[in-house]
Parts: sequence; structure tokens; C-alpha cells
Amino acid sequence: MAVHVFDHPLIQHKLAILRDKNTGTKEFRALISEIAGLMCYEATRNLPTREVLVETPVATAKCRMLAGKKLAIIPILRAGLGMVDAMVDMIPSAKIGHIGLYRDPDTHKPVEYYCKLPEDIENRQVYVVDPMLATGGSAVAAIDFLKARGCKHIIMMNIIGCPEGIQTVQQAHPDVDIYLAACDEKLNDHAYIIPGLGDAGDRIFGTK
Ligand code: PRP
Ligand code: URA
Repeated sequence: MAVHVFDHPLIQHKLAILRDKNTGTKEFRALISEIAGLMCYEATRNLPTREVLVETPVATAKCRMLAGKKLAIIPILRAGLGMVDAMVDMIPSAKIGHIGLYRDPDTHKPVEYYCKLPEDIENRQVYVVDPMLATGGSAVAAIDFLKARGCKHIIMMNIIGCPEGIQTVQQAHPDVDIYLAACDEKLNDHAYIIPGLGDAGDRIFGTK
């Protein structure tokens, strides 16, 4: 299992503004989407391609197109929704599934409230998206669901993670690669990432 932390200047610049407590909902939502698009570009770098011949107006060009498994994007509700549009802009043929989880405020354990996946999910390369990887409980629960439905090729994409979350996912699902824009220092007593960005769902949807 591999953990990839992107140090691309554009991603880091946008992440700095995203973290700022003075960044408002409109800009926060736009930044989540922009970062997800840039991360998508990097996280799909190793997708297989096949050669195709394309007739241009003047000659035949040897080109490459995506090959291999079809893709699925699975946001963990709610905050994961903020990353979907940018992913679909890059991969318009991807199917989208939804896994609804929220963290119990006292136990910090994930509680499931919704799950709807593409019918052929087991044959797809799956990208699970969620801005935050804190305790790792939500990520592990989402990957558990997907594996229970036959998925074998799963990639986790989070904007901010931390050592605790990475370790939890690594222990439960050593076959799942994790892509992050940043790996922060630690969790606080409320299982929030420090320094993090606060509550991603509330900041995307303006609920607090
Ligand atoms: C946040 C975040 C992750 C989860 C991460 O969601 O979007 O899903 O917490 O924490 P964990 O790694 O400790 O499980 P939250 O439960 O706040 O729900 P929301 O997206 O509906 O706001
Ligand atoms: N969920 C969030 O939205 N932020 C955190 O820091 C941890 C969990």
C-alpha cells in the first residue's frame, strides 16, 4: 500500500487558502473542487492506455486512449460531494455511487445512513473521495462496504489526512492506496485534524 502526498505548488497554494478560517463558503467550495481536480489528474497518472489510430483532417495519428477497467467515483456524504464535480469533469464516463456516513459526535465512530452504488461496481476501478481522513473510521467503513460488494480495486482520495487515519486505513485495508494533498500533524481531543481546516462538511455547505 502506498501513501502519496502531493507537493504540487498549485495544490499547496489552494490548500493554504482553504485552511484559512476567514475563507467563506463560496470560495471554500470552489477550492475543494479545484484541488480535487488537480488531485484527480495526479491520481489517475497510472491508468492503463491502449493505442488507437485517429484520422485527423490531414493524416493518421497514433494516439492513446484509456483502457482497462471503467471507473467509479464514490463520495462519502456529505463532504465528499464537494470533490465529485471536478472528478467527473476529468472522467465524464465515470459512474457515481454514494455512501452516507456521519461521525457520532461522542464516539467519533462512523454511522451509516445511505448507500447506493453502480450495479457493476465490482468490475470498476473505484475512487473513494472525502476531504478529510481523521480517525480513518469513515474511510475504513466505506471501503468495507465496497469490498463486501465485490470491489477489488479501490483508491482513497482525501485532501487532508493525518498519521492516525493513514495507519487505521493501512491496517484494515493494506491494498488501498491513499492520495492526499497534505498529511497534517495529529488529531485533537475531538478527533479533528490539527491544524486541518475545521469541519469540511459545514464549510462546504455553510451549515455552521
Ligand atoms: C467528516 C469527513 C469524513 C469524516 C472523517 O465527515 O468528511 O467523512 O468526518 O473523519 P474520520 O476519519 O474520523 O471518520 P462528518 O462525519 O463530519 O460528516 P459530514 O461530511 O456529513 O459533515
Ligand atoms: N471531519 C472534518 O470535517 N474535519 C476534521 O478535522 C475531522 C473530521
